[in-house]
Amino acid sequence: MAVKRTPFIAGNWKMNLDHLQAIAFVQKLAWALADAKHDFADAEVAVFPPFTDLRSVQTLVAADSLPLGYGAQDLSAHDSGAYTGEISGAFLAQLDCRYVIIGHSERRQYHGETDADVNAKVLAAHRHGLVPVVCVGETAEDLEAHGPSAVPVAQLRAALEGVDGSKGLVIAYEPVWAIGSGQAATPAQAEQVAAALRGVLGEVLGDEVAQATRVLYGGSVKAANIASFLREPNVDGALVGGASLDIDEFSSIVRFKKHVGA
Ligand code: 13P
Repeated sequence: MAVKRTPFIAGNWKMNLDHLQAIAFVQKLAWALADAKHDFADAEVAVFPPFTDLRSVQTLVAADSLPLGYGAQDLSAHDSGAYTGEISGAFLAQLDCRYVIIGHSERRQYHGETDADVNAKVLAAHRHGLVPVVCVGETAEDLEAHGPSAVPVAQLRAALEGVDGSKGLVIAYEPVWAIGSGQAATPAQAEQVAAALRGVLGEVLGDEVAQATRVLYGGSVKAANIASFLREPNVDGALVGGASLDIDEFSSIVRFKKHVGA
């Protein structure tokens, strides 16, 4: 029997919105979704603000019992010690983060994160009870040289080394060429890679985990294209960048079921 996976819409703010802007944004997002009578059984929602915003977001979410999840955009592979500038998963857990993004292509590209670093960070997230949102994706050159699935599949295999699937994880397939380009993958391309990634989850962590794990698509997701991705059987949500910074656009993405009748 097919397992029902609750769609997950995640907003990666990247390096945008300071803590004061974050408070205003999260409050307005919660109002917009409440006004629209959003049913969180249709789509779970989480935001990923910069580190310096997380305490403010925690306070607001807790004080107003907002039905929004949140997490960080990265964490250290280490738990504590002489690692200047790093943030421990222990600190994120203390801020009631549920999730943490790991291995975003911007971290791989600008900070030299390797597959081994990503794997170490996934293990660190699990040590602290955080659910990693593991990002994989091919560049335009990779696509040309190896086709769509080879690089993301290899990245996921490496990320899962020694991982306990019962601790929970989310996978985000983000083709690098689609990020911030306005040129999203087609739903069929996203489905092909998402299915291959679910195959890896099955091989490495077993079928039960593979069926329960949400595989997101990311890269130029907008209100206008979200429904076409969510119609694909192996795509369980989206990791949204630019469009997650606009309340109307992001809440419209969250409400994909209603506004397009999907
Ligand atoms: P855009 O939605 O701006 O293309 O960014 C996608 C992304 O990188 C989310 O992590």
